[in-house]
Amino acid sequence: MYDTADSCVRRSGRDDDGRDELKESAKFDSSGVLRPERGIEPCFATEHGALFDRDCEEFLGAIRPGTVDMIFADPPFNLGKEYGKRSNDSREEEEYLKWCYRWIDLGIEALKDGGAFFLYNLPKWNTHLAAYMSSQGLDFRHWIAVNIKLGLPIQGRLYPSHYSLLYFTKGKARVFRKVRTPIETCRHCNGEIKDYGGHRKAMNPKGVNLSDVWHDIPPVRHQKYKSSDRKANALSSKILDRVIEISTEPGDLVVDPFGGSGTTFASAEAKHRRWMGTDIDFAPVIEERMTGNRYLHRNDDVVDLD
Ligand SMILES: C[S@@+](CC[C@H](N)C(=O)[O-])C[C@H]1O[C@@H](n2cnc3c(N)ncnc32)[C@H](O)[C@@H]1O
Repeated sequence: MYDTADSCVRRSGRDDDGRDELKESAKFDSSGVLRPERGIEPCFATEHGALFDRDCEEFLGAIRPGTVDMIFADPPFNLGKEYGKRSNDSREEEEYLKWCYRWIDLGIEALKDGGAFFLYNLPKWNTHLAAYMSSQGLDFRHWIAVNIKLGLPIQGRLYPSHYSLLYFTKGKARVFRKVRTPIETCRHCNGEIKDYGGHRKAMNPKGVNLSDVWHDIPPVRHQKYKSSDRKANALSSKILDRVIEISTEPGDLVVDPFGGSGTTFASAEAKHRRWMGTDIDFAPVIEERMTGNRYLHRNDDVVDLD
């Protein structure tokens, strides 16, 4: 089995002229995780991870079965958005679901037993996708409501203010770590928002147990989080921090088949997880982020290992 330690051989020293040689660390070797007969090669790699510029199905299909600890997927929502030249965000409804079912199947095959599968999408699609994932033998753990008011009100509907984050595992979860978040305070007066029914003194000083409704996720509005080559939205790294901390341990392998701006990889790297991912159009943008400022949002969660 692949071991991170093998891939982290550092080299430094002096060259013949006595100058310091560039410190160079070995790059993540994805060959142990890939089916050699598929012949896909990363376009960029760090010490912890490898990036591809392939279609999600080609990429997931090239991963050896049972090698991945966690998958995070944030596909296009079929809203007719313009991502890049090669992506299609305007499919017929049935065609969109069939496309999702295909890459979900490939993801399930790549997952280890006990591995986690997170899928971020509109509630409209995740009702179907959750049913499909259950029908394919995954265990449902949570429908996490991520409260983000980004869109405009829709005529004749309630104001949509949450995205759905599905959390499934392949059999019994191999890793489940308890995450605590700070007790919520008012932004203006700094007072605590809830009264905890008179039990405040008995509460854990490390914070409250993370619930399945996340209303502390900042929207990614600022241009500094977006490349001039990719205007589309990116997720807050706080979401990725959480799913990574909940479901993996350092050294585990995290996979994202819809890399986008590279949020998953930036968070995985910061948390010392190995990572692999692809984006059909924006691999160069991800490379730019991974080699420059990775723009991680502040996150005061703690993992309670007691
Ligand atoms: C919603 S964005 C992901 C955003 C990402 N989670 C982030 O935080 O930056 C979806 C991404 O999937 C990519 N994409 C679309 N179709 C794809 C496909 N068939 N294979 C791989 N990537 C695809 C798009 O280029 C887009 O960047």
